Amino acid sequence: MIVTAQNRTIPLSVPAGFFFLAEAFLVAFAAAFALHPEALEVPRHPLGLAMAHLFLLGFGVGVLIGGMHQLVPVAIEAPLYRHEWGYPVMLLWGAGVGLMALGFARAPALVPWGGALVLAALVFFAVHMVLTFLGAPRWNRVGTALAWVVFYLVLTPVLGLFQALTLRYGFYDPGRLTWHLLAGLGGVFLISIAGVGYKLVSMFTLTHDVDERVLGLFLWAANLGLLGLAFGETLGYLLLLMAAALALYDTYRILRNRMKRALDIGVRHYLAGLGFLALALLALPVAPIVSVLWFALGFVGLVVTGMLYKILPFLVWTHRYAPRAGRERVPLLKDMLPERAASLSGVLLALGALVVPFVPQAAPLYLLGVLPHAYALLEVMRR
Ligand code: HEM
Repeated sequence: MIVTAQNRTIPLSVPAGFFFLAEAFLVAFAAAFALHPEALEVPRHPLGLAMAHLFLLGFGVGVLIGGMHQLVPVAIEAPLYRHEWGYPVMLLWGAGVGLMALGFARAPALVPWGGALVLAALVFFAVHMVLTFLGAPRWNRVGTALAWVVFYLVLTPVLGLFQALTLRYGFYDPGRLTWHLLAGLGGVFLISIAGVGYKLVSMFTLTHDVDERVLGLFLWAANLGLLGLAFGETLGYLLLLMAAALALYDTYRILRNRMKRALDIGVRHYLAGLGFLALALLALPVAPIVSVLWFALGFVGLVVTGMLYKILPFLVWTHRYAPRAGRERVPLLKDMLPERAASLSGVLLALGALVVPFVPQAAPLYLLGVLPHAYALLEVMRR
């Protein structure tokens, strides 16, 4: 990642604040999952709903929006409109996720309140991003992918809050859950990871001249695929398969043209995550619950933990040591992360994600993977 005036001026507490709240939600999820793995095997189980939102909305979305505060200025070559707006977003989102998790598990009346706070946070974030996008000197396809992610980050809570309110006050339709799932899993995570994550992979592997036309095609296929599936069309599923195939092809091309031969830990996590994406899509027509579990625990879990190994050490090093580099002895960027703990975590998370859909008793493996992951990030902060 390039150090520019834009990303140096954002205080470390904005992205790092999101990351550490996200980690707290991840640890809470993994502990609950180890104790009650059966809850995720049945759709709409109260504890399962709490866990799904701790993991996806707490951990996944937290890292995503924390990371976007850092990445958007680099991707569109314009500074954030007001970086300090990150703090109220963090507060509203963090409090909202906590209330929602408590509400789903114990006190259903809290769910709409928590959901409203999350919606307010994500609308605020979206307004911030739109104002930032407007300052871009030129536009590119990564910007378009980021704009779609922002759109789905607002649509998902709108649909979720609608379900929560209709569940309490009437006019509930269980079928509408599919829309919420498609917007959240497909719109937010598929598009952010396959559409924007690949840009990061090209930076990590020092690959230049990436042809962004594939990304343009991916965005069409993914969006139309999600719309098709929302209306129950088989064509939608085929389009999503095509989108995933394009993402895999693009990653293959990036890796083939890379200058840096060794694949570092972030890239290895990304590739393992893409493997889970392929498995999840193939399983979708025959075993939807297995598919959602592979998508969330495998694809989202591995890619997001791996991205943190790249982003956090870079941020901490840039803020703490870059100004002193050259004048005194400072640690090297590559010494910021305890790699062995991070690799061990990756293996355990991957194993856990792979077998849990068939052997729910293996859920503690996932917790065993989360612990060295959290330790590795704490070490980064200490070094
Ligand atoms: C990106 C953010 C989100 C993602 C990825 C997401 C994902 C999910 C998933 C996977 C489920 C199904 C879980 C299961 O059956 O065990 C679900 C259900 C649900 N979500 Fe979300 N969610 C998000 C945000 C929200 C928000 C902000 C609310 C606001 C209240 C919300 C409300 C609900 C409700 C009420 C259900 C159950 C709906 C029903 O039974 O019909 N979600 N969500």
